[in-house]
Amino acid sequence: MTNTLTIRRPDDWHVHLRDGAVLKAVTPETARHFARAIVMPNLVPPVVTGDDAAAYRDRIMAAVPEGMSFEPLMTLYLTEDTDPKDVRAAHSAGIVTAAKLYPAGATTNSASGVRDFEKIRPVLETMAEIGMPMCVHGEVTDAEIDIFDREAVFIDRVLDPLRTSIPQLRVIMEHVTTKDAVDYVRSNEERLGATITTHHLIINRNHMLVGGIRPHYYCLPVAKRETHRLALVEAATSGDARFFLGTDSAPHVDAAKETGCGCAGVFSATNTMSCLAYVFEKEGALDKLEAFASLNGPAFYGLPANEETITIEKGPAAAYPDKIASGSGPITLFDPGVELEWRVV
Ligand code: NCD
Ligand code: ZN
Repeated sequence: MTNTLTIRRPDDWHVHLRDGAVLKAVTPETARHFARAIVMPNLVPPVVTGDDAAAYRDRIMAAVPEGMSFEPLMTLYLTEDTDPKDVRAAHSAGIVTAAKLYPAGATTNSASGVRDFEKIRPVLETMAEIGMPMCVHGEVTDAEIDIFDREAVFIDRVLDPLRTSIPQLRVIMEHVTTKDAVDYVRSNEERLGATITTHHLIINRNHMLVGGIRPHYYCLPVAKRETHRLALVEAATSGDARFFLGTDSAPHVDAAKETGCGCAGVFSATNTMSCLAYVFEKEGALDKLEAFASLNGPAFYGLPANEETITIEKGPAAAYPDKIASGSGPITLFDPGVELEWRVV
């Protein structure tokens, strides 16, 4: 039995750090274990220009505690008015790494997202030309499409036609939640990757809805049935380079989650590495954890893997807080529902 695992320091290829008091509270939680993170731009107002991204980057760096090293990789929020020239300039100046496409209304703070995908064709063509990846929230928003079907329908109606018409564009399907998405990624050889969250490897929709509604398991895309969770676990633990970790750690204060119309988002930055070691061990795939958390992401983004390492050890249950405090109120940490015996030492 392996009780110690040393891997290259991981990165988080999809995280929400927010702003203000919450940014201050959650940035150390990510920086403690992760060397880099793709930081989502869905602030209010969103991060839409290179200048916005540079200013946000400075606010993040100010929230990194002394003695921790952390590099935020910035993203731009694509709108129908995004200027391809600004995107090109911000990318070539090294201010931004990727741009995020939110269909309007698909998730938290996505009102400024895209309604007419034709309007962003020039910017996507520019991104394809300069090798800048597009991260996409892959859900349609049509009222008549069932929320559990929105990812699968997005692939057929939006993503596949778009990728066919701009074949050079590198695309990351963010936080995939279905077997349909896993199969779609697998059926493509090049320029398509996917992030998988911690929580979608552990919970299915029953965890959220059976025996009472559990708002801290509510996120978007919403967790699906067990067959889909199993497909995600298989993809993540397979070593397939197209799948990598994006925690989608998305903090909301408890008051915004435990209410009549609660926000979507699971906060998992603090205990993600313990949760992942649990999942990978259960699959007999601890030897694939490094690929998923530390190697596949940088390879897809064309960046070097981290030189530093972390060591994860198995022992008595790791003590994590139920909540972390922020100046805006407490934020509940993801509860995997099992004892976490692995911890980063
Ligand atoms: C995210 C958030 O709160 O910003 N919420 C979520 O449920 N994942 C937005 C997102 O990534 O969809
Ligand atoms: Zn997200």
